[in-house]
Amino acid sequence: TQDEMLKSSIPMYVNAVMSVCAFGLTVHLIPRIKSMFVQANLYGVDMSKRCSEKIPEAIGVVTGCVFLITMFLFIPIPFTDCLFRNINFPHNEFVDFLAALLSICCMLLLGFADDVLDLRWRHKLLLPTIASLPLLMVYYVNFNSTIIIVPKPLRSWFGFSLDLWIFYYVYMGMLAVFCTNAINILAGINGLEVGQSLIIATSILIFNIIELFGSQWKAHQFSIYFILPYIATSLALFKFNWYPSQVFVGDTFCYLSGMTFAVVGIIGRFSKTTLLFFIPQIINFLYSIPQLFHLVSCPRHRLPKYNEKIDKLEPSRTVFYKSDLGTLGKLSMWIFRKCKLIKWEEDSEGFVTCNNLTLINFILIKTGPLREPKLTSILLIIQIISSILAFVIRYPLASIFYDV
Ligand code: UD1
Ligand code: MG
Repeated sequence: TQDEMLKSSIPMYVNAVMSVCAFGLTVHLIPRIKSMFVQANLYGVDMSKRCSEKIPEAIGVVTGCVFLITMFLFIPIPFTDCLFRNINFPHNEFVDFLAALLSICCMLLLGFADDVLDLRWRHKLLLPTIASLPLLMVYYVNFNSTIIIVPKPLRSWFGFSLDLWIFYYVYMGMLAVFCTNAINILAGINGLEVGQSLIIATSILIFNIIELFGSQWKAHQFSIYFILPYIATSLALFKFNWYPSQVFVGDTFCYLSGMTFAVVGIIGRFSKTTLLFFIPQIINFLYSIPQLFHLVSCPRHRLPKYNEKIDKLEPSRTVFYKSDLGTLGKLSMWIFRKCKLIKWEEDSEGFVTCNNLTLINFILIKTGPLREPKLTSILLIIQIISSILAFVIRYPLASIFYDV
């Protein structure tokens, strides 16, 4: 009834008010706390600027903490009714909530460890897997539904539904690994990490609001509880990270964001839709594969190269001898060259200069040198267009694959 609807939406309004406070607190906190980071040797140099001043790094830990504190204070709110009237307390919902927070909290710690210790690549893959274990455990206890509905065109082979069994858990663990790292490797220019995360979060929020009127409204309400404070704290960070950056977000922020999206997707059971909002990140990942798996040499930093004279960014490059490539390396480079996806220069001795394989560099190849804020804006516009595309795929087109 209307009365019940109103009652169940009160926690959301409380959450919104708390988010506004969290935004204010973060904006207040960052400028005051940032010098402490430089003192603690947590700083980076902006590689796309003329001066090389120390910019505090890993400020994502500040927004992450404010986000978690907001969530901790919020915990009792959705359950007050049950607490006061002492009637059937929804223990499983409560456990979902706590496990989600535990996973995010764990990821914040591991992300910060990465910023402080500069971990190796294999650890970057391991950390999110570990952080998602509590969540998977709770999923097992609370839902343990590993059955998926098969898309219509494939039903003649697999039937109507398919039990993925343990592989569903592997998929969920990999989702956490993908979400966290995919944001981290589409990075390196001012405002991009936070900007893309904000667009993904807003897309998830819009999706949740639409679905609030559907049968799964509870799961989507749960997601909104997390996404609103996340957006609020990240927006505050965006203010300081936009060109010219006063602070860097660090891997802490990338991990925190990816984990938050994975968590709400898993608990809200809309992980496929969450992935749809990652289209640019998926493209960037696929394009990066030859370098990520070391089929082609991969320098420590792949961010665009700054040209001081014109104050613009140019594609950064990697160099290698063609004869050093393995079969897979040769094959992938051949495909990329045929599709005109890379800028490939080869001299008579087989010494190759090729752009680093990131979406950022790809844009620069196609457009020519750009100023940093313009490049970030283009990438963020691509992110927005992809989100619109995701909604088209999710709503009108989904009827081709599923009965919706
Ligand atoms: C990832 C990328 C790397 C990219 C880096 C940039 C892969 C495999 N790794 O590495 O190619 O160069 O992110 O973040 O794709 N920085 C700027 N301007 C910015 C943001 C960052 O100059 O707007 C520089 C700063 O020196 C900062 C450093 O990048 O200290 C942070 O890099 P870090 O996050 O440690 O790199 P990774 O995530 O390991
Ligand atoms: Mg990083």
